Parts: sequence; structure tokens; C-alpha cells
Amino acid sequence: MQIDPAVTAAVDGVLTTTRAVRRRLDLERDVDDEIILDCIDIAEQAPTGGNQGSRRWLIVRDPELKQRLAELYRGVIGNRMITARDRLAGTGDPRERSMRSSAHLAEHLGEVPAIVIPVILGRHDGSGRPGLFDSVIQSGWSFCLALRARGLGTAWTTAGLANAPDIKELLDIPEDVTEIAMFPVAWTVGTDFKPARRHPAREIAYFDGYARTFERGPSHPVCMADGPGTVAEADIRADPAAVWARVTDINLPAEFSEEFQGAVWQDGHDGPALGARFVGRNHHPGRGDWEATCFVDVFEEGAAFGWCTSDVDNPGARWRFELEPVVGGTRLRFRGILGPGPSGLDAIIESRPDLEPRIIARRISEHRANMQRVVDGIKTLLEQVPAGS
Ligand SMILES: Cc1cc2nc3c(=O)[nH]c(=O)nc-3n(C[C@H](O)[C@H](O)[C@H](O)COP(=O)(O)O)c2cc1C
Repeated sequence: MQIDPAVTAAVDGVLTTTRAVRRRLDLERDVDDEIILDCIDIAEQAPTGGNQGSRRWLIVRDPELKQRLAELYRGVIGNRMITARDRLAGTGDPRERSMRSSAHLAEHLGEVPAIVIPVILGRHDGSGRPGLFDSVIQSGWSFCLALRARGLGTAWTTAGLANAPDIKELLDIPEDVTEIAMFPVAWTVGTDFKPARRHPAREIAYFDGYARTFERGPSHPVCMADGPGTVAEADIRADPAAVWARVTDINLPAEFSEEFQGAVWQDGHDGPALGARFVGRNHHPGRGDWEATCFVDVFEEGAAFGWCTSDVDNPGARWRFELEPVVGGTRLRFRGILGPGPSGLDAIIESRPDLEPRIIARRISEHRANMQRVVDGIKTLLEQVPAGS
């Protein structure tokens, strides 16, 4: 069967624009039960472990029950969302927009036309049967997509389920059944939703081993032209400003890396700025000592700091620290990419071209080990409790 490109585009469109809808849920327009049941029929086509249909769907329509669920939601998390929205209003904080949306849902959950709760027969209680739980998530997401394809919307919410005993009592849900999500269902106000900002696949897809990235290909066998790279990450209990201060200190990695020895700013610079140049000193047991001239080519205050070696237009390597706020702190991601310009690896590869993939793999794994030392070192530094406290 030929796949019609229009079908692919329509499916991709739904897959990339099914957002968590909260402020654009239409509270005035009723939703027919039939359309919800149609979406459940579609959702039931999702894979299920052992081909057993163990999902059940609660559709809550009764206004009083919806209000009670909304109260439970507010008790667990909603009131905190409302307080956070009010605190962040007008501050320009990156969470301001999402908190406005979350608080709006918390305030209006009881007014949505329907609340749908998918459940699964059985308890997800560490019983060693993960397949049980895994047989419902994909079905829940299919339900969200089916709604979107019809002009309805929802938000995947789970926070309210933390109050499971009260929800069970309210809706007569047996003890040995697990609630999975709580979907407020409504028509959406308008149907234009955009893809969200996410990591590009090339940055988070690893080929043939963890943290092995490629800008192109990879070819088989792997070669330098593929732009091989690697990543080291850590979640740090510190705010992005504190992490930013450490990653922009170009000498700090020398405290943790077994290769990088230190660096000196050039041309009168005494700190990081776009275009600023520094010279880094390195040591490798097999290669001895060498220096590399580096140019700051990424400088996004509080978010990304990167430099390339040797030549801005044709770098020998590129290095980037990326900071992302996560619950409880900051995710620090340190990325390195070899090439496309000349580097110290070229002479080694020229002497044994048949070993190019092995030489690349070994160098990448050395880099990754040192990058992880740096990331972990920064984490330890920022998380250590000051003496006497
Ligand atoms: C497991 C899970 C739990 C979630 N719980 C809640 C919740 O309790 N309340 C809420 O407003 N949104 C909740 N969300 C929605 C996320 O906040 C939302 O997906 C995220 O902000 C990204 O927005 P997007 O889906 O539009 O890209 C949850 C999402 C997931 C995957």
C-alpha cells in the first residue's frame, strides 16, 4: 500500500501540535458523549501487553462530581499553582506563562464539559509487572490525539491523582484498579496550535551506544566527516544563575578533567563574551602537551555557553554547555562535536586509516569521561553544604 503524503502530513500535524490545552478549553460548548466514546474506541487500538484489554475509562459528566474532582485537584496542587501564578505575574520569569495556564485549569477544572480518567485493572505497586502500567500510557496519548484530530483538546494531568483514596471513594473505583491520568475534555477555542520547542533529534538520539551523537549519517564504518560527538549531563540542585557562573569560568574544568589544564583569555578580555578568544592548555598521556586557540561562538546569558577550537568557520571541535531549568534545579548538558576542521586526530587517522572508526570511538569515550568529570565536579561544588550550616 502506498501511503498518501497528505495522510502523513495530517498525522504528523496532529502529532506535533497536540499541546496541553488549558486556557483555550471552551467551557461554554458542550461535548457529545459519542465523540468521547469514538476517541476511546480509537485509543483502545493502542498496543497492550499480552493483547489483554485491561483498560477502563471513567467519563465524569455530573457537575457536582466534576466540582469535587476540581477541589481535590486544587487541594493537591492547584492552589499552589494559583499562588505561584500570582507571585510570578509580571516578573518575566520563564515559568510565568506556563503557570498562568496551569492555574487557569486549576480554577476552572470543575467547569469543563467532561473529565475522563483512564484506569487499568491491577495495581502499579512495584509488583514487578511493569507491562501492566505500560499498557495504558500509549492509549491515553492516543485519546489525546484523537480529540485533537476532531477539534477538541485536553491536558495530560496526573497531579490530582496523588489523592487517589478520595478519588476512588468519589467515583467508586475499586482498590485493585490504578488511575492513570485525568483529562479535562472540551472543544478548543480555535484549532491552531504550534509545535513546542524540543531538543532536535540529532542532539538526543544516540547511535550504537549511549551518548554517541552524529551531526550527519553516521556512515558505516563511522568517519570524521560524520561529525561524531558526545554528551555528559547532570541534574544539579542549584538555580541556573549559579550554574551559569561556574560554566563560564573557563578555568574551572581543569579542576576535574584529566586532559584540560587551564586557559587564559586573550586580546584584553577577562571574561566570556561572544567572539572572545582564549587559549587552552591540554595534556594527554599519549600525545603530550598542546595548546588550542578557542573562540566563544555561543553566549546566551544563563542558557548556553560554547566555544570552537582553531577556526570559527572550520573548527577542529565545538564545545557547548547548555542549561535547562528542571524541577528542583538545573540540568547541565555538556556537548562536544569533533570537526569538521583539522584536529590532532587527523595525523593519527592518516597513519592508520583502516582504524578510523576505532580511533574516533576511543577519542569520543575519552572526551565523554572527562566531560562527565567536569559536569559531576560542578554538581558536587554547587550542591555541597557550606561548612557550619
Ligand atoms: C506525566 C505528566 C503529568 C502531568 N501533570 C500535569 C498536571 O497535573 N497538571 C497540569 O496542568 N499539567 C500536567 N501535565 C502537562 C505538562 O505540564 C505539559 O505537557 C508540559 O507543560 C508541556 O506542554 P505541551 O504538552 O503543550 O508541550 C503533565 C504531563 C505529563 C506528561
